[in-house]
Amino acid sequence: MALPFMSAQEAAHFVKNGDVVGMGGFTPAGAPKDTPTAIAEMAEKLHAEGQSFKIGIYTGASTGDSCDGALARAHAIDFRTPYQSNKDLRTELNNQDAHYYDMHLSELAQDIRYGFLPKPDVAIVEACEIVEKGDAIEIVPTAGVGNMPTFCRLADKVIVELNAAMPPIMRGMHDIYEPADPPMRREIPVYKPSDRIGSDCITIKRSQLVAVVHTDRPNEVSKFKELDETTQKIGNNVALFLENEMKAGRIPASFLPIQSGVGNIANAVLGALGENKDIPAFEMYTEVIQDSVVGLMKEGRVKFASGCSLTVGADKLQDIIDHMDFFKDKIVLRPQEISNNPEVARRLGLITINTALEADIYGNINSTHVLGTKMMNGIGGSGDFTRNAYISIYTTPSTAKGGAISAIVPMVSHLDHSEHSVKILITEHGIADLRGKSPIQRAHEIIENCVDPAYRPMMRHYLELSKKSHTQHNLSIAFAMHEEFAKSGDMRNTKFENYLR
Ligand code: COA
Repeated sequence: MALPFMSAQEAAHFVKNGDVVGMGGFTPAGAPKDTPTAIAEMAEKLHAEGQSFKIGIYTGASTGDSCDGALARAHAIDFRTPYQSNKDLRTELNNQDAHYYDMHLSELAQDIRYGFLPKPDVAIVEACEIVEKGDAIEIVPTAGVGNMPTFCRLADKVIVELNAAMPPIMRGMHDIYEPADPPMRREIPVYKPSDRIGSDCITIKRSQLVAVVHTDRPNEVSKFKELDETTQKIGNNVALFLENEMKAGRIPASFLPIQSGVGNIANAVLGALGENKDIPAFEMYTEVIQDSVVGLMKEGRVKFASGCSLTVGADKLQDIIDHMDFFKDKIVLRPQEISNNPEVARRLGLITINTALEADIYGNINSTHVLGTKMMNGIGGSGDFTRNAYISIYTTPSTAKGGAISAIVPMVSHLDHSEHSVKILITEHGIADLRGKSPIQRAHEIIENCVDPAYRPMMRHYLELSKKSHTQHNLSIAFAMHEEFAKSGDMRNTKFENYLR
């Protein structure tokens, strides 16, 4: 029986107003491209005719502009979960035009299976190969897996984008495994980052496959900012901290697997870690495999990487494809409920390194909300890893917007990771070791080591104005720096006395 090949425009008609759609891939890596854009165009046409068209969208994480960007600009999104990082979608959800649930990434697939969230009507996924096996169809993912296994199993209709830019040679990089649900769940049998526990493809019933769309498009992964002095110093401080932990015998000499977060800073930190020759070559059990890992693998500094996606620039992905013999036994791509699995993170003893938008003097972390209200991206996998880490590290430049914002404030304006989960805070100025310290000891450690010198007197003054207690705060001025930024555009102008009530 022939496969149902058709154009993206034809395939888009399988998606109806009010449907819930599960997009495959993770970050722009492996996310579908042409069909979401065709759905956005269809939505615009329907809206122009006065008809309603909005859909709920599940993804792995962020996607490319052809998916989240196009659908946001078409005002075609009813709800969206679990993560995004698109400028236009950010505007849409901060205006409450799309409802956004910001979730721990390891939890979406099981929350759908448990019935907490509706099952997807349609799954749209990218493949490098599609194979007919009687009544079954094998789908081989590309550079990102995300929640594809669960979306494909539960959706009534599956649309596959067969992307010629992603060759079938990628088969064998993936390890597809879906755990059973409680009370039948057993341990996830990953005992080291390189363990393979599943299959190399996703299998669906032929009756589910409604469309196959030919595409030939690279992933829409954006370029990283160049390393600057601040990110370089942060990276060096992380490397120094880990080197000293190893020398003190608190990290085994063979080292432990690294999880590294998303974004410019995480990419720079990993680069610095690779350069520090006092740190042995290491393995990674992480969510996104970013650009810096590819070079480090070639240099022998990263021995193995388990992740959910290869979120690397087009040149780096081509390098991997061209040298598949070298990379294939050094990389495994898993569904996000396994790459980010809390049970596995705790078992493997991960050293987790994530980036904070904002931290407070007690070690609470805000990863998501700019100045307390505006969603930036989402919590992503940072909570999956942080809470279960061997050592959880947060990094952040001490200031943002040319010094007008201190990334370290008296009280975080939104809480993602509490003081109970955060062990180490690192900025370009230094390292705050929060282990075994009371709140006031942590406050001194953070102020003296991590806060920008321009803000240190302000933080010390905050403590002077706060009532002595277990966690010392003056609630009337806890957000004075945020209020001052809203008023004058610069936290350095903060005079706490003006805000005391
Ligand atoms: N208040 C307001 N804005 C701030 C800020 C603060 N305290 N700190 C940083 N910013 C701004 C920066 O100025 C920058 O703005 P710009 O894009 O207009 O220049 C932006 O936030 C991003 O900062 P950048 O320094 O480039 O950081 P990044 O690319 O490393 O990203 C996070 C940092 C926190 C946004 C990103 O890591 C993230 O989304 N984390 C949450 C998810 C996560 O941790 N996933 C990992 C799981 S494996």
